[in-house]
Amino acid sequence: MVQIAPSLLSCDFSCLEHEIRTVEVAGADLLHLDVMDGHFVPNLTFGPVVIKGIRKLTSLPLDAHLMVETPERWVEKFISAGVDWISFHIEVAKNPKQVINLVKSSRLKVGLAINPPTPLESIINWVNDVDFILVMTVNPGFGGQEFISEPLEKVKALSKMGVMVEVDGGVNLSNVSKVADAGASTIVSGAGVFNTKDPGTTLKKLKSIANGTQM
Ligand code: DX5
Ligand code: ZN
Repeated sequence: MVQIAPSLLSCDFSCLEHEIRTVEVAGADLLHLDVMDGHFVPNLTFGPVVIKGIRKLTSLPLDAHLMVETPERWVEKFISAGVDWISFHIEVAKNPKQVINLVKSSRLKVGLAINPPTPLESIINWVNDVDFILVMTVNPGFGGQEFISEPLEKVKALSKMGVMVEVDGGVNLSNVSKVADAGASTIVSGAGVFNTKDPGTTLKKLKSIANGTQM
């Protein structure tokens, strides 16, 4: 079963609870939370304080994608905020093992994220140490960007190796089937869900296309 993780980055934060409820009722499998620090990426979003609030609003697993320069500095705060999955970027991690061990010792899922231009070789030695690899299909920093298809080669290679792969960036109704076909086990969609007229129905469609169960 391919899981769908709507990214709250594109939701209406003035009615966060309503937005969460909409995707929850529609069958979201987890909530993707994009944490940006203004250093690793040229944008700022939210941190542990907001995530702690989100934790009180839902029992869905929370998938924190840390686009931050120093994950080793922040990871414990996200663990305390109540997330379930944590991914951080290979491009900036000075000591991946330290972060991996911290997350694992809290019995949470840990993933390594990889940007579109970063070669597969950079994470290949870590695939057995993490629960999943997050393959970016946009350059991180903003929601609503155009999908880049080249990284799907990395998705194919990783899934052939039996690695769980989360695909993140630019996924919508028009391209979700090729993402699922490449072997993604979790698919993130932000603007592709929240910037549509009926986010709940869109999410249901994404999920059924990804799983080959559409009518
Ligand atoms: C990009 C983020 C993505 C993004 C997904 O920096 O990591 O999670 O918000 O949103 P869409 O689907 O709009 O690209
Ligand atoms: Zn993300």
